[in-house]
Amino acid sequence: MKRARLDPRRFVVSAFFLIILFLCILGSINEVRFISLLNFCALAKYMPSQSYYKYSLSSEDLLATNANSSDDIRILIGILTLADKYHRRHLLRLVYGTQQSPVGAKVDIKFVFCNLTKEDQKVLVALEIMRYDDIIILDCKENMKQGKTYTYFSSLPEMLTDSTTNVDPYPPYHYVMKADDDSYFRVNNLVDSLRPLPREDLYYGYVIPCPSMDPFVHYMSGMGYLVSWDIVEWIKESDIPKNHTIGSEDKTFGDWMREGNRAKNRHNAKWSMYNFPDPPTRCTHELWPGTIAVHLLKDQEKWIRTLKYFNVTASLKPSKLYHIP
Ligand SMILES: *[C@@H]1O[C@H](CO)[C@@H](O)[C@H](O)[C@H]1NC(C)=O
Ligand SMILES: *[C@@H]1O[C@H](CO)[C@@H](O)[C@H](O)[C@H]1NC(C)=O
Ligand SMILES: *[C@@H]1O[C@H](CO)[C@@H](O)[C@H](O)[C@H]1NC(C)=O
Ligand SMILES: *[C@@H]1O[C@H](CO)[C@@H](O)[C@H](O)[C@H]1NC(C)=O
Repeated sequence: MKRARLDPRRFVVSAFFLIILFLCILGSINEVRFISLLNFCALAKYMPSQSYYKYSLSSEDLLATNANSSDDIRILIGILTLADKYHRRHLLRLVYGTQQSPVGAKVDIKFVFCNLTKEDQKVLVALEIMRYDDIIILDCKENMKQGKTYTYFSSLPEMLTDSTTNVDPYPPYHYVMKADDDSYFRVNNLVDSLRPLPREDLYYGYVIPCPSMDPFVHYMSGMGYLVSWDIVEWIKESDIPKNHTIGSEDKTFGDWMREGNRAKNRHNAKWSMYNFPDPPTRCTHELWPGTIAVHLLKDQEKWIRTLKYFNVTASLKPSKLYHIP
């Protein structure tokens, strides 16, 4: 009588499975915080036992999708605008929604305004949030020079950090920007310019006055300036901004940095950031490919000229359904 011989290949596979099972049990007992291992175990449940070769493939896939979280540079762009500017938000969602998302970065673009005041806003803005989830409503009364920017920055730490869970990355964003709703940012170029810069004590933008190239004198233009998260926290904590909220918001911001002796690291992004070239002033030059931001896009014609210049529709896919000459 011949006894069934153990196939050595099957033996190896079974041993492999036993080890995995053991690791999974160990992992769940000890609550080992080894996420990929636990993911791997979760995946193991769905695997038919013979497809052993798939394991390594799938675990690699898992690792690949897990790899992008913590090293990414995280940026929040808050566009200060008004609840009633539905058309502008529509345009901005189009131009940012079609930009290629930068590799190795997470860029969130949010519209920021104060308390809603009208009945129709309560319906329309709520619908926008349900659809796009890209709106921040601050606790303030809409204003230009009465501290909206202060409310924006000082509200963020509480809005963005959830004290009940500590799984969220810290800081929630490495950089926070305040941008105007008539500025057009080319997000990839912005991210590229930030990569070599410090992630602490940074104040970045287009230095005012226009001919100046020295970021340590005066302040960054309100078209869009960016600071590192430690400065956002400082704005929330310190009395210096709290006592000085009235005035041109961009100049006021520069005063805080000076009075608080903040922003040892500064970056002047001029002439990658500039005003729209028409009319020509000391603050502009022609549109050019290295652009990070164009400002003062006050009307549709200026937006169209800018978007055309940057070939934003070049990747429109051909279809029988439409024809755009
Ligand atoms: C990695 O990035 C992709 C695409 O941006 C996203 O779908 C996925 O959830 C990210 N994974 C993690 C673990 O953050
Ligand atoms: C804004 O709205 C909230 C909630 O509706 C209210 O508690 C707060 O007092 C309002 N703030 C201002 C400045 O009107
Ligand atoms: C801010 O104002 C308060 C009250 O007026 C005052 O006590 C405090 O010293 C001021 N702080 C700064 C940093 O100016
Ligand atoms: C836009 O496309 C034109 C034609 O292909 C090209 O010459 C030009 O350099 C592009 N402009 C930019 C800013 O990439």
